[in-house]
Amino acid sequence: MEKFIKLFKSSPKYSIKWDNYFNIYSNILKKFVNKKIIFVEVGVGNGGSLFMWKKFFGNKVRIIGIELNPEAKKLEKHGFEIFIGDQANPNFWKNFYKQVGKIDILLDDGGHKNIQQITTFMESIQHIKKGGKIIVEDTHTSFMKKKGFKNPSKYSFINFCFYLIENMHRRNPMLEKNLNYYSKKIKQINFHDSIVEIDITENKSLKYSQLLENNKQLRYYFTDYRHKGDFIITLKRFEKIFGKISEESLTFKIIRKIFHRNLFFSFKEKMRINRYIKILKS
Ligand SMILES: C[S@@+](CC[C@H](N)C(=O)[O-])C[C@H]1O[C@@H](n2cnc3c(N)ncnc32)[C@H](O)[C@@H]1O
Repeated sequence: MEKFIKLFKSSPKYSIKWDNYFNIYSNILKKFVNKKIIFVEVGVGNGGSLFMWKKFFGNKVRIIGIELNPEAKKLEKHGFEIFIGDQANPNFWKNFYKQVGKIDILLDDGGHKNIQQITTFMESIQHIKKGGKIIVEDTHTSFMKKKGFKNPSKYSFINFCFYLIENMHRRNPMLEKNLNYYSKKIKQINFHDSIVEIDITENKSLKYSQLLENNKQLRYYFTDYRHKGDFIITLKRFEKIFGKISEESLTFKIIRKIFHRNLFFSFKEKMRINRYIKILKS
């Protein structure tokens, strides 16, 4: 991390970054150092970060910058490839990938608005090589109202990630859902402080998870309370008031009905979860 900060500070051009990013970047990008990769950064600015990335990844890296401001083209004299365009425009991306082909890493440090981050992700994922990643920087904008970010909102990038998470979870057959393109492609999503990292699978295609069992012969020696637990807890509470309740009694049947309808629990559970949410919101 210290080395990374040195590279940042010694860049010949201006750049500005939050200090916690350096630790995250040195951890999540170290496997690409000295590899022949294509690294694309959206949002070039003065070019300060491009010099840092070049030093970090080494001589084999091909660095491409994407920028709305045409002045960034000047940076090509330093050996970077610069594409001028709007990251919120799907046609820009179509042309870009037609020219460049598949890339290894896409880092989005552009305008940080919902439509820009989401379009960049959706138009890029199919062009990321196996084992590559998409990194979205400054995702705190998903919670910012000011400076035109208009968040928190249903349309924020972080809320959009919920759908990616759901697509990944479809790999569990318990959900009985079809695997879509994203279920097969997104290996994992890491949420860091203001950075979201989406890892693309190294394999051809991710599949449904399979259940593995060991020691099958031992399975019957233990009663799994997973589905019975809440009922037993409710019963014990009633037994505290009414004394021992037999399975044939009317009280037992009433409790079972209450439990099955989930009346008592769902209300109490919601109350408690709301209390926890209130703590997190403070
Ligand atoms: C925070 S600066 C990038 C700084 C650079 N990555 C660094 O760390 O030194 C964000 C850049 O994104 C560019 N930008 C903003 N909206 C954009 C868009 N829609 N498409 C492409 N670039 C955009 C801005 O012009 C600005 O130069």
